[in-house]
Amino acid sequence: MNLAGHTLDEARRAIATQLRKAKIESPELDARLLLGDVLQLDLTGLITAATRRLDTSEAQRLEDVIRRRIAGEPVARILGRREFWGLTFALSPATLVPRPDTETLIEAVLDILKREGRTAAPLRILDIGTGSGAILLALLSELPNTTGIGTDINPAAIATAADNAATLGLASRATFVACDYAGALRGPFDIVVSNPPYIPTADIDHLDLEVRAHDPRLALDGGADGLTAYRTIAPLAFALLAPSGIAAVEIGQRQAHGVATLMAEAGLAVPAPAKADLGGVPRVVTARKT
Ligand SMILES: C[S@@+](CC[C@H](N)C(=O)[O-])C[C@H]1O[C@@H](n2cnc3c(N)ncnc32)[C@H](O)[C@@H]1O
Repeated sequence: MNLAGHTLDEARRAIATQLRKAKIESPELDARLLLGDVLQLDLTGLITAATRRLDTSEAQRLEDVIRRRIAGEPVARILGRREFWGLTFALSPATLVPRPDTETLIEAVLDILKREGRTAAPLRILDIGTGSGAILLALLSELPNTTGIGTDINPAAIATAADNAATLGLASRATFVACDYAGALRGPFDIVVSNPPYIPTADIDHLDLEVRAHDPRLALDGGADGLTAYRTIAPLAFALLAPSGIAAVEIGQRQAHGVATLMAEAGLAVPAPAKADLGGVPRVVTARKT
């Protein structure tokens, strides 16, 4: 495809057609995002400049990113960023692309705090396996008097999370520590959250190419039954939570019973069934230290 000399509008339509032929799920949206990224234009900018023509260098850069997209690289990886909870998170090869399903965890925690009238309290949050910092920073953005620590076993993820905290203006309330689970930390915390790796090892090779080839394996691999991380996180949450503290963890498909059982065995109360995501899949187990 040679896009040099095409207007932005023609290019956007030609890219969408090419992506659709390659069976990319959201061709129109991806075409707009890729075109906007190469030209550094938002939606309004693309509309305003619809009749402007692409020069050779822009066309080449565009053709390069289209090739990457057709080869299965997710748009978020190509752009190097992803929206989560209305905030923009920079990504690196060490970080998972934050998923819309994970917003269910943010909602679950905020629902409990709102119900209990604690959203303005000076709470302390621990986010185990923070990746890009998405969960911790989304919660801090909603809870103005709260501070938090995010841990990750991958120091490169910690560096990205710290950069995101700075960009989002939350660095004064967020600390990031590279360690195994929460090995380096002492409590107490009011809230322990985690979206740990939970894909059973044998299932990883069957995931979509976009996930298995582009998300870090450390962020996916949950061991033989997918529950390895929860076996450590449940007793850790019990040990690190203050009385009445809340634990909330994201889970994979068919893990609600197993994770709730691990929480209960660790001494935590599990007062409600797992909260479902927008697709109706049980997605978040919440527990409480009584
Ligand atoms: C599924 S990703 C979640 C990332 C981020 N919290 C999110 O929701 O987008 C799991 C994260 O846990 C980290 N991780 C894996 N094993 C860990 C361990 N033993 N201790 C701490 N972090 C770990 C991975 O590096 C990865 O960043």
